[in-house]
Amino acid sequence: MRVKDEIKKAVDMYGASLCGTPIATGYADIYRKCEKKLARNAHYRRIFVVTESVFSTEGSIAPFDEIKGLCDKYKVIPVIDDSHGISVIGKSGRGILEEKGISHFKGIYTASLGKAIAHAGGMITGSKKFIDYIRYSTPGLIYSTALPPAIIAGICKVLDIIQSDFNTLSSRMWEYKKMIQSALSKAGYHLSNGEAPITSINCNSTHDTILLTKKLFMEHIIATPFIPPSVPPGSGKVRIIAGANRKGYPVIIVLILPPLILAAVRISDWERHLRVWRTVGFGNEWGIH
Ligand SMILES: Cc1ncc(COP(=O)(O)O)c(C=O)c1O
Repeated sequence: MRVKDEIKKAVDMYGASLCGTPIATGYADIYRKCEKKLARNAHYRRIFVVTESVFSTEGSIAPFDEIKGLCDKYKVIPVIDDSHGISVIGKSGRGILEEKGISHFKGIYTASLGKAIAHAGGMITGSKKFIDYIRYSTPGLIYSTALPPAIIAGICKVLDIIQSDFNTLSSRMWEYKKMIQSALSKAGYHLSNGEAPITSINCNSTHDTILLTKKLFMEHIIATPFIPPSVPPGSGKVRIIAGANRKGYPVIIVLILPPLILAAVRISDWERHLRVWRTVGFGNEWGIH
């Protein structure tokens, strides 16, 4: 069983189709649905409950302590994909397990090394028996070239940086997230309430979603568009992720541009956009001239 929010992501769909499991959606009552399904399916020999830690379309964080509690109760195996949590959440950046105070985790933990760790590849941890099984039966491992040494060296370097500088980097990242979120919300945009450093602007149509993303891209801002079927029909989201860049400059660009860009989409909103600009109060200290 795979439990997730109402946003459909390719990885969810692919994972579920590979193992033929049903997906329980509805983040709001995830816990209730999960418990109900577990109680109903208790006769199965082996059940995995699979969830992401940070749901990356909107930045919500799974109540994984509760989900793990349920897994303990029903003696099933929790699987956590911490791709968007590792190096981002947790007191020292160790991801969802640290964030939720879970120690001696006995389930399966996976993470991509291509998100905050900014390289390629992924990791999977679990019991020795499980890892042996994966090692000798996963086509991606058996028939594929191993990660090159340069990538491994880069990953090690990032881990060193996280270990030594996480506090500084993470406080900068949260500060940027707050700035982006508050500027956009003051401007009247409808935003997702993500707890992770992700801010998604809700758009009303595929057209606005793509247009906004393209215009941001032309200004060297990478934002991700989500359009149907990833989101419900008639809606769209543009995701902006706060990084920990040393300079405030890219953040400020993000703060200024969406209002201006959307102004180009809806000229009648111009006054509102100008108000944001003034509210945020940019100065030359941010490198804006
Ligand atoms: C939750 C989650 N897990 C795994 C992946 C796959 O990561 P990679 O591109 O490193 O294979 C993604 C990619 O977007 C993801 O969002």
